[in-house]
Amino acid sequence: LRLRDLDGLIAVPSLSHPHFLEAHHFATKVGLLPKDDVVVRTLDTGGAGPITALLEAKRMVESESCQAVAIVAGDAVGGMDSSTFLERADAGCRPSHVDESSPQFLPSPVIPHGYARCTNYHMDRFGTTREQLAMVSVLMSRSAVQHPDALTRSPRTLEEVLQAPQVAPSVGLLECARRADGGAAMIVASSRFLERRRTARRGNGGSGDVVILGGGEASGPLYPPPVIDEEMFSCEQAVRNAFTACQLEPDDIDFFGLYDCFPICFVRAVEAVGLAPKGGGGDWVEARYRESEEAGGTLSPAKFPVNTHGGLLAFGAPWEVPAMYNVHEAVQQLRWTAGERQVDRARRALVYGNGGIFSASAVALLGRAVDE
Ligand code: CAA
Repeated sequence: LRLRDLDGLIAVPSLSHPHFLEAHHFATKVGLLPKDDVVVRTLDTGGAGPITALLEAKRMVESESCQAVAIVAGDAVGGMDSSTFLERADAGCRPSHVDESSPQFLPSPVIPHGYARCTNYHMDRFGTTREQLAMVSVLMSRSAVQHPDALTRSPRTLEEVLQAPQVAPSVGLLECARRADGGAAMIVASSRFLERRRTARRGNGGSGDVVILGGGEASGPLYPPPVIDEEMFSCEQAVRNAFTACQLEPDDIDFFGLYDCFPICFVRAVEAVGLAPKGGGGDWVEARYRESEEAGGTLSPAKFPVNTHGGLLAFGAPWEVPAMYNVHEAVQQLRWTAGERQVDRARRALVYGNGGIFSASAVALLGRAVDE
């Protein structure tokens, strides 16, 4: 593929290197613009951005006659000094109209404190335990060590996670999205474009191609409301919209790429996608943790077909980029090229991105094209 084959580009904003019209900035810098008949767009749904972009790229191919749309995301929050990072991250989600006496006030670090409020709501309402939350981080680290590009190179123990410095109530340092520098790109192309290229190259084609079946999105408030209840969460609705759009059910999915910026996000996602019943996400995590312990601290993709790359907690989290890694891992799973991490004969995958503090949810369902 050459740069001039692209007729669409979507970019998500960067926290470390913000630019006006990010996609235009990028397209101009790499030489895609100026060119006739190119559409470039910057999309901001926070960490849901890459999945929103995937769905937008599908629409661009279907409704705007695009042949190949690139989605690009990059950030360098790992390299930022702590105070600059927190200044910018805090500003994004701080409820500026409330003062310190209000129960809605979020001290710095604002994002972990926002998730802590949601964590405590979930613990109180459904009985999820502190240990179950910490187990999410252990499981992610056990997955990450299987991936050559993951930041986390050795698995964590439950004790390590529980004893890490507390960042916010019920949230320890090893339960925060792991700040990282990183980037990723993917290209969504029309079937006609791929067929033309195959004919030109006399390729066999078909086998291992991945298609976007459809998806759904939903929105919640930018920061938790004074009283937290089920209404503020948006993941469940996005999942329902995705399954309805594709006429599929949880049992049809072989691999799940779930957003896990904090354990509560993962636990709620496990429930939303149907791996566990409502309120049962913590027990599901604990059951997978116990199975992993019995297997000597290893994780089998057959028993845990989720975030086989390690997710935000352990693979690494460059701000709005990490849902791209969920998609990349899903594509490898559907191409049957994930090696030791492979979920046997995976045919369909669900990828989920979350922006802000459950503020934006985007879910896409991907499928392996029928082999020729
Ligand atoms: N696993 C392993 N190590 C971790 C870790 C993790 N999950 N998180 C942090 N660490 C390590 C760091 O690598 C660092 O190690 P070194 O000292 O060896 O470099 C050490 O712990 C200290 O971390 P920081 O340098 O980050 O420490 P800090 O004191 O500057 O800040 C913090 C601590 C406030 C918790 C900060 O790490 C933080 O804010 N983390 C959360 C990041 C965040 O909010 N990301 C966005 C999540 S929400 C989302 O994704 C949605 C969206 O829309 C973007």
